[in-house]
Amino acid sequence: MVHHGTLVFVTLTAIVSIASAAAPVTFVFGDSLTDVGNNNYFQYSLAKSNFPWYGVDYIGGQATGRFTNGRTVGDIISSKLGIPSPPPYLSLSQNDNALLTGVNYASGGAGILNDTGVYFIQRLSFDDQINCFEKTKVRIKNRIGEKATEQLLNNAIYLIGLGSNDYVNNFLQAFLPDAQQYTHDEFLDLLISTLDKQFRRLYLLGARKIVFNGVGPLGCIPSQRVKSKKGGCLKQVNIWVQQFNSRVQQQILDLNKRLPAAQLSFADSYPAVLDLIMNPTSYGFKISNTSCCNVDTSVGGLCLPNSKMCSNRKDYVFWDAFHPTDAANIVLANKVFAMIFAHSHSPAPAPSPH
Ligand SMILES: *[C@@H]1O[C@H](CO)[C@@H](O)[C@H](O)[C@H]1NC(C)=O
Ligand SMILES: *[C@@H]1O[C@H](CO)[C@@H](O)[C@H](O)[C@H]1NC(C)=O
Repeated sequence: MVHHGTLVFVTLTAIVSIASAAAPVTFVFGDSLTDVGNNNYFQYSLAKSNFPWYGVDYIGGQATGRFTNGRTVGDIISSKLGIPSPPPYLSLSQNDNALLTGVNYASGGAGILNDTGVYFIQRLSFDDQINCFEKTKVRIKNRIGEKATEQLLNNAIYLIGLGSNDYVNNFLQAFLPDAQQYTHDEFLDLLISTLDKQFRRLYLLGARKIVFNGVGPLGCIPSQRVKSKKGGCLKQVNIWVQQFNSRVQQQILDLNKRLPAAQLSFADSYPAVLDLIMNPTSYGFKISNTSCCNVDTSVGGLCLPNSKMCSNRKDYVFWDAFHPTDAANIVLANKVFAMIFAHSHSPAPAPSPH
């Protein structure tokens, strides 16, 4: 019997060998963990971070719309690939050269489902992000023609990180309709069937090398811990997230069999994030059960200008109630990068990840 992990790993290796030939074009889809400024363009969005103390450790110390004190995991992975972090889609003009080298569609508050994060008023859901990608394709075609466009899109890497908000800002909020209407099994079926359409749509638009980054142990983020009596992780939430991850993993194996030349893969970051939270000191951190900004609530939870920051941000895994610090993102980016790209960037074969 072939182990799932082995199959996924083989797929990941295939991505890499082609990616290493030239600077890879990357298209990023996601939520606040990868947003690099799209939500700044939404006047009424409540999922914004373009104010202090966000960006306090970013180049120039300025808030950019990233939901952390420094860089996102995506920024760090781009720099490890030797490419600039793709710019926010909403910042680009019709004929921007950046359209040819990679675009970031991620939007804070976004989910797989359209109704996720509804109380943020404005955000790009995954469907919206794919619509933006479709417009990108038209613009690229106008620039370089049909054939070169198909080639560019077939060879590009698609990094997707979504699902966290479908839990934190949807199913786990008891007052919202999805939480009242569905059991977890039903909600999970809805997520997976929606995701199936979204993967297929990306494929039809030309995406082949798709990496889906699994959801982390959400039961252990500060906004969830505050709901437990003693500040511990919410076990049920972590069980649900793991069920989601394993369904996506299975779905990806199925899609690879059904869609010719598809190279979808699943980057399972759950164990890496959990280990960082459970053993912070082995990574040089001191605190992982509360946020540096000390804003641990289940709605809100952002680091506001009047929040009191911790004095040593490198001691903390979490920056606000939802998002890791720059220091934690470095640890996580290294692990995710190793999962996705390790083989091609080292002269000798890397040791097996098992
Ligand atoms: C979600 O909204 C977008 C437009 O904002 C729309 O194109 C899409 O069909 C919607 N998806 C569903 C499942 O209703
Ligand atoms: C975090 O953990 C420390 C040490 O284990 C404990 O003293 C502290 O009360 C915890 N904080 C929260 C907010 O749970």
